[in-house]
Amino acid sequence: MNPIVRVTGVSKEFLSGRDGSRVQALDGIDLSIGRGEFVAVVGPSGCGKSTLLSLIAGFAAPSAGTIEFDSRPVTGPGPERGVMFQEYALFPWRTVEGNVEFGPYARGVDAATRRARARSLIELVGLSGFEKRFPHELSGGMRQRCALARMLANEPALWLMDEPLAAVDLQTRIILQDELLRLWGDGHAAAAGGTGKVNRPTVLFVTHGIDEAVLLADRVLVLARRPGRIKEVVTIDLPRPRAAQRNTPAMARLIEHVWSLIRDEAVQAISEESG
Ligand SMILES: Nc1ncnc2c1ncn2[C@@H]1O[C@H](COP(=O)(O)OP(=O)(O)OP(=O)(O)O)[C@@H](O)[C@H]1O
Ligand SMILES: [Mg+2]
Repeated sequence: MNPIVRVTGVSKEFLSGRDGSRVQALDGIDLSIGRGEFVAVVGPSGCGKSTLLSLIAGFAAPSAGTIEFDSRPVTGPGPERGVMFQEYALFPWRTVEGNVEFGPYARGVDAATRRARARSLIELVGLSGFEKRFPHELSGGMRQRCALARMLANEPALWLMDEPLAAVDLQTRIILQDELLRLWGDGHAAAAGGTGKVNRPTVLFVTHGIDEAVLLADRVLVLARRPGRIKEVVTIDLPRPRAAQRNTPAMARLIEHVWSLIRDEAVQAISEESG
Protein backbone atom coordinates (compact mmCIF):
# COMPACT_ATOMS: atom_id res chain seq x y z
CA MET A 1 0.00 0.00 0.00
CA ASN A 2 1.15 3.55 -0.76
CA PRO A 3 2.23 5.53 2.26
CA ILE A 4 0.04 8.56 2.95
CA VAL A 5 3.08 10.69 3.84
CA ARG A 6 6.37 10.33 2.06
CA VAL A 7 9.33 12.47 3.13
CA THR A 8 12.37 11.96 0.91
CA GLY A 9 15.84 13.41 1.53
CA VAL A 10 14.42 16.43 3.32
CA SER A 11 16.70 19.10 4.75
CA LYS A 12 15.74 22.45 6.18
CA GLU A 13 18.14 25.28 6.73
CA PHE A 14 17.15 28.51 8.42
CA LEU A 15 18.94 31.77 7.84
CA SER A 16 19.08 33.95 10.90
CA GLY A 17 18.01 37.45 9.88
CA ARG A 18 20.24 39.24 12.32
CA ASP A 19 23.75 37.95 11.62
CA GLY A 20 23.20 35.84 8.51
CA SER A 21 24.24 32.62 10.26
CA ARG A 22 22.64 29.35 9.19
CA VAL A 23 20.92 26.70 11.26
CA GLN A 24 20.58 23.22 9.82
CA ALA A 25 17.29 22.22 11.48
CA LEU A 26 16.81 18.98 9.53
CA ASP A 27 19.22 16.98 7.41
CA GLY A 28 18.48 14.09 5.07
CA ILE A 29 15.18 12.96 6.57
CA ASP A 30 13.54 9.93 4.93
CA LEU A 31 10.22 8.84 6.35
CA SER A 32 7.16 7.00 5.10
CA ILE A 33 3.98 6.91 7.13
CA GLY A 34 1.32 4.31 6.37
CA ARG A 35 -2.39 5.07 6.20
CA GLY A 36 -3.88 4.90 9.68
CA GLU A 37 -0.53 4.71 11.38
CA PHE A 38 0.21 6.56 14.64
CA VAL A 39 3.78 7.87 14.64
CA ALA A 40 5.27 9.77 17.56
CA VAL A 41 8.31 12.04 17.27
CA VAL A 42 10.65 12.53 20.21
CA GLY A 43 14.04 14.17 20.60
CA PRO A 44 15.77 16.93 22.53
CA SER A 45 14.76 20.56 22.27
CA GLY A 46 15.85 22.08 18.97
CA CYS A 47 16.24 18.82 17.04
CA GLY A 48 13.70 19.88 14.42
CA LYS A 49 10.45 18.18 15.52
CA SER A 50 8.26 21.24 14.97
CA THR A 51 10.10 22.00 11.75
CA LEU A 52 9.28 18.53 10.42
CA LEU A 53 5.60 19.01 11.24
CA SER A 54 5.39 22.46 9.72
CA LEU A 55 6.98 21.20 6.48
CA ILE A 56 4.39 18.40 6.23
CA ALA A 57 1.63 20.90 7.12
CA GLY A 58 2.88 23.07 4.25
CA PHE A 59 3.63 26.13 6.39
CA ALA A 60 7.21 26.13 5.11
CA ALA A 61 9.09 24.53 2.22
CA PRO A 62 12.09 22.23 2.61
CA SER A 63 15.53 23.49 1.52
CA ALA A 64 16.12 20.16 -0.19
CA GLY A 65 14.14 16.98 -0.78
CA THR A 66 10.45 16.35 -1.33
CA ILE A 67 7.34 15.92 0.77
CA GLU A 68 4.33 14.10 -0.60
CA PHE A 69 0.88 13.68 0.87
CA ASP A 70 -1.36 11.11 -0.78
CA SER A 71 1.14 10.84 -3.68
CA ARG A 72 1.03 14.58 -4.40
CA PRO A 73 3.71 17.13 -3.54
CA VAL A 74 2.89 19.37 -0.59
CA THR A 75 2.90 23.00 -1.74
CA GLY A 76 0.95 24.65 1.10
CA PRO A 77 -1.50 23.96 3.91
CA GLY A 78 -4.71 22.03 3.21
CA PRO A 79 -7.80 20.94 5.16
CA GLU A 80 -6.91 17.26 4.74
CA ARG A 81 -3.88 17.90 6.98
CA GLY A 82 -5.18 19.11 10.35
CA VAL A 83 -2.87 20.81 12.79
CA MET A 84 -2.95 21.10 16.54
CA PHE A 85 0.09 23.05 17.60
CA GLN A 86 0.63 24.06 21.18
CA GLU A 87 1.43 27.64 20.27
CA TYR A 88 -1.45 27.67 17.82
CA ALA A 89 -3.80 29.36 20.23
CA LEU A 90 -7.54 29.40 19.77
CA PHE A 91 -9.04 32.59 18.38
CA PRO A 92 -9.64 34.57 21.59
CA TRP A 93 -12.45 36.59 20.03
CA ARG A 94 -14.43 33.51 19.04
CA THR A 95 -16.44 31.26 21.32
CA VAL A 96 -15.81 27.51 21.59
CA GLU A 97 -18.45 27.02 18.90
CA GLY A 98 -16.97 29.79 16.75
CA ASN A 99 -13.52 28.25 16.98
CA VAL A 100 -14.73 24.76 16.08
CA GLU A 101 -16.79 26.07 13.16
CA PHE A 102 -13.99 28.15 11.76
CA GLY A 103 -12.42 25.57 9.42
CA PRO A 104 -15.69 24.50 7.79
CA TYR A 105 -16.71 28.19 7.59
CA ALA A 106 -13.47 29.05 5.80
CA ARG A 107 -14.12 26.22 3.35
CA GLY A 108 -17.62 27.48 2.59
CA VAL A 109 -19.61 24.75 4.38
CA ASP A 110 -23.18 25.99 4.93
CA ALA A 111 -24.19 27.31 8.34
CA ALA A 112 -26.60 24.52 9.30
CA THR A 113 -24.13 21.76 8.44
CA ARG A 114 -21.20 23.34 10.19
CA ARG A 115 -23.30 24.17 13.25
CA ALA A 116 -24.48 20.56 13.52
CA ARG A 117 -20.96 19.22 13.06
CA ALA A 118 -19.56 21.62 15.65
CA ARG A 119 -22.24 20.56 18.14
CA SER A 120 -21.41 16.88 17.80
CA LEU A 121 -17.64 17.48 18.01
CA ILE A 122 -18.06 19.64 21.09
CA GLU A 123 -20.00 16.81 22.65
CA LEU A 124 -17.39 14.27 21.53
CA VAL A 125 -14.59 16.14 23.33
CA GLY A 126 -16.73 16.68 26.42
CA LEU A 127 -17.35 20.42 26.14
CA SER A 128 -21.14 20.39 25.92
CA GLY A 129 -22.56 23.35 27.80
CA PHE A 130 -19.48 25.46 27.04
CA GLU A 131 -20.35 26.31 23.42
CA LYS A 132 -20.75 30.02 24.15
CA ARG A 133 -17.68 30.40 26.33
CA PHE A 134 -14.60 32.26 25.16
CA PRO A 135 -11.13 30.67 25.42
CA HIS A 136 -10.15 32.83 28.42
CA GLU A 137 -13.12 31.37 30.31
CA LEU A 138 -11.82 27.81 29.89
CA SER A 139 -9.21 25.79 31.78
CA GLY A 140 -6.05 24.70 29.96
CA GLY A 141 -7.43 21.19 29.50
CA MET A 142 -10.67 22.54 28.08
CA ARG A 143 -8.76 24.72 25.65
CA GLN A 144 -6.87 21.65 24.45
CA ARG A 145 -10.17 19.84 23.97
CA CYS A 146 -11.50 22.79 22.02
CA ALA A 147 -8.37 22.83 19.84
CA LEU A 148 -8.83 19.10 19.24
CA ALA A 149 -12.47 19.63 18.19
CA ARG A 150 -11.37 22.47 15.93
CA MET A 151 -8.81 20.22 14.25
CA LEU A 152 -11.37 17.42 13.82
CA ALA A 153 -13.95 19.78 12.26
CA ASN A 154 -12.32 19.51 8.85
CA GLU A 155 -12.23 15.71 9.12
CA PRO A 156 -8.55 15.67 8.23
CA ALA A 157 -6.98 12.41 7.07
CA LEU A 158 -3.75 13.41 8.80
CA TRP A 159 -3.47 14.82 12.30
CA LEU A 160 -0.30 16.85 12.82
CA MET A 161 0.01 17.39 16.54
CA ASP A 162 2.86 19.35 18.11
CA GLU A 163 2.98 18.76 21.87
CA PRO A 164 -0.79 19.06 22.11
CA LEU A 165 -0.96 17.94 25.74
CA ALA A 166 2.16 19.63 27.12
CA ALA A 167 0.28 22.45 28.81
CA VAL A 168 -2.15 20.38 30.88
CA ASP A 169 -1.74 18.74 34.27
CA LEU A 170 -0.91 15.05 34.57
CA GLN A 171 -4.43 13.82 35.37
CA THR A 172 -5.92 15.76 32.46
CA ARG A 173 -3.17 14.50 30.19
CA ILE A 174 -3.94 10.87 30.99
CA ILE A 175 -7.64 11.45 30.32
CA LEU A 176 -6.93 13.26 27.05
CA GLN A 177 -4.50 10.52 25.95
CA ASP A 178 -7.29 7.97 26.35
CA GLU A 179 -9.74 10.25 24.52
CA LEU A 180 -7.29 10.76 21.71
CA LEU A 181 -6.75 7.03 21.31
CA ARG A 182 -10.49 6.45 21.29
CA LEU A 183 -11.09 9.16 18.67
CA TRP A 184 -8.30 7.81 16.50
CA GLY A 185 -9.73 4.29 16.65
CA ASP A 186 -7.45 2.43 19.04
CA GLY A 187 -8.47 -1.19 19.37
CA HIS A 188 -10.03 -1.41 15.93
CA ALA A 189 -8.50 -3.22 12.94
CA ALA A 190 -4.73 -2.86 12.87
CA ALA A 191 -3.30 -0.38 10.37
CA ALA A 192 0.24 -1.41 9.59
CA GLY A 193 0.29 -4.61 7.61
CA GLY A 194 -3.48 -4.92 7.75
CA THR A 195 -5.48 -5.76 4.67
CA GLY A 196 -8.20 -3.72 3.06
CA LYS A 197 -8.98 -0.06 3.46
CA VAL A 198 -8.02 1.73 6.62
CA ASN A 199 -10.46 4.43 7.65
CA ARG A 200 -8.75 5.58 10.76
CA PRO A 201 -6.79 8.83 10.52
CA THR A 202 -3.02 8.97 10.34
CA VAL A 203 -1.28 10.75 13.21
CA LEU A 204 2.12 12.41 13.54
CA PHE A 205 2.46 13.39 17.17
CA VAL A 206 5.35 15.36 18.67
CA THR A 207 5.90 15.00 22.39
CA HIS A 208 8.53 15.44 25.06
CA GLY A 209 6.90 12.59 26.96
CA ILE A 210 8.71 9.36 26.13
CA ASP A 211 6.08 7.38 28.03
CA GLU A 212 3.36 9.20 26.11
CA ALA A 213 5.06 8.39 22.77
CA VAL A 214 5.35 4.69 23.64
CA LEU A 215 1.79 4.55 24.96
CA LEU A 216 0.21 6.05 21.85
CA ALA A 217 2.31 5.17 18.83
CA ASP A 218 2.86 2.31 16.41
CA ARG A 219 6.35 3.69 15.79
CA VAL A 220 8.46 6.22 17.67
CA LEU A 221 10.79 8.36 15.60
CA VAL A 222 13.81 9.42 17.64
CA LEU A 223 15.52 12.53 16.27
CA ALA A 224 19.08 13.61 17.02
CA ARG A 225 20.12 17.24 16.83
CA ARG A 226 22.49 19.56 14.98
CA PRO A 227 21.64 18.75 12.33
CA GLY A 228 18.29 17.06 12.95
CA ARG A 229 18.55 13.47 11.76
CA ILE A 230 16.65 10.29 12.43
CA LYS A 231 18.56 8.40 15.08
CA GLU A 232 16.29 5.38 15.24
CA VAL A 233 12.74 4.35 14.51
CA VAL A 234 11.42 2.16 17.31
CA THR A 235 8.50 -0.14 16.54
CA ILE A 236 6.04 -0.34 19.43
CA ASP A 237 4.63 -3.83 19.10
CA LEU A 238 2.33 -3.63 22.12
CA PRO A 239 -1.27 -4.82 21.71
CA ARG A 240 -4.15 -2.38 21.43
CA PRO A 241 -6.17 -0.94 23.01
CA ARG A 242 -3.22 0.69 24.69
CA ALA A 243 -4.97 2.04 27.78
CA ALA A 244 -4.67 -1.51 29.18
CA GLN A 245 -0.90 -1.43 28.58
CA ARG A 246 -0.09 1.41 30.96
CA ASN A 247 2.60 0.37 33.43
CA THR A 248 3.16 -3.11 31.97
CA PRO A 249 6.76 -4.46 32.03
CA ALA A 250 6.77 -4.59 28.21
CA MET A 251 5.91 -0.89 28.04
CA ALA A 252 8.53 -0.06 30.65
CA ARG A 253 11.21 -1.83 28.57
CA LEU A 254 10.29 0.17 25.46
CA ILE A 255 10.30 3.44 27.40
CA GLU A 256 13.74 2.58 28.76
CA HIS A 257 15.00 1.83 25.25
CA VAL A 258 13.73 5.12 23.78
CA TRP A 259 15.11 7.02 26.77
CA SER A 260 18.55 5.44 26.31
CA LEU A 261 18.55 6.68 22.71
CA ILE A 262 17.90 10.31 23.54
CA ARG A 263 19.62 10.59 26.92
CA ASP A 264 23.04 11.68 25.69
CA GLU A 265 21.55 14.11 23.21
CA ALA A 266 19.36 15.64 25.88
CA VAL A 267 22.23 16.11 28.31
CA GLN A 268 24.26 17.80 25.58
CA ALA A 269 21.33 20.05 24.64
CA ILE A 270 20.95 21.20 28.23
CA SER A 271 24.64 22.00 28.65
CA GLU A 272 24.70 23.96 25.37
CA GLU A 273 21.65 25.97 26.35
CA SER A 274 22.96 26.87 29.77
CA GLY A 275 26.52 27.50 28.58
N1 LIG B 1 11.74 30.23 11.66
C1 LIG B 1 12.96 29.92 12.09
N2 LIG B 1 14.01 30.75 11.84
C2 LIG B 1 15.27 30.43 12.25
N3 LIG B 1 15.58 29.31 12.94
C3 LIG B 1 14.57 28.45 13.21
C4 LIG B 1 13.21 28.72 12.82
N4 LIG B 1 12.44 27.69 13.24
C5 LIG B 1 13.27 26.83 13.87
N5 LIG B 1 14.54 27.28 13.85
C6 LIG B 1 15.71 26.58 14.40
O1 LIG B 1 15.70 25.26 13.91
C7 LIG B 1 16.05 24.33 14.92
C8 LIG B 1 14.93 23.33 15.12
O2 LIG B 1 13.81 24.00 15.68
P1 LIG B 1 12.44 23.25 16.02
O3 LIG B 1 11.51 24.27 16.54
O4 LIG B 1 12.01 22.45 14.86
O5 LIG B 1 12.91 22.27 17.20
P2 LIG B 1 12.03 21.34 18.15
O6 LIG B 1 12.60 19.97 18.06
O7 LIG B 1 10.59 21.48 17.82
O8 LIG B 1 12.33 21.93 19.60
P3 LIG B 1 11.40 21.98 20.93
O9 LIG B 1 11.43 20.60 21.49
O10 LIG B 1 12.09 22.95 21.81
O11 LIG B 1 10.04 22.42 20.50
C9 LIG B 1 16.38 25.16 16.16
O12 LIG B 1 17.76 25.36 16.21
C10 LIG B 1 15.64 26.47 15.91
O13 LIG B 1 16.30 27.54 16.54
MG1 LIG C 1 8.94 22.22 18.88
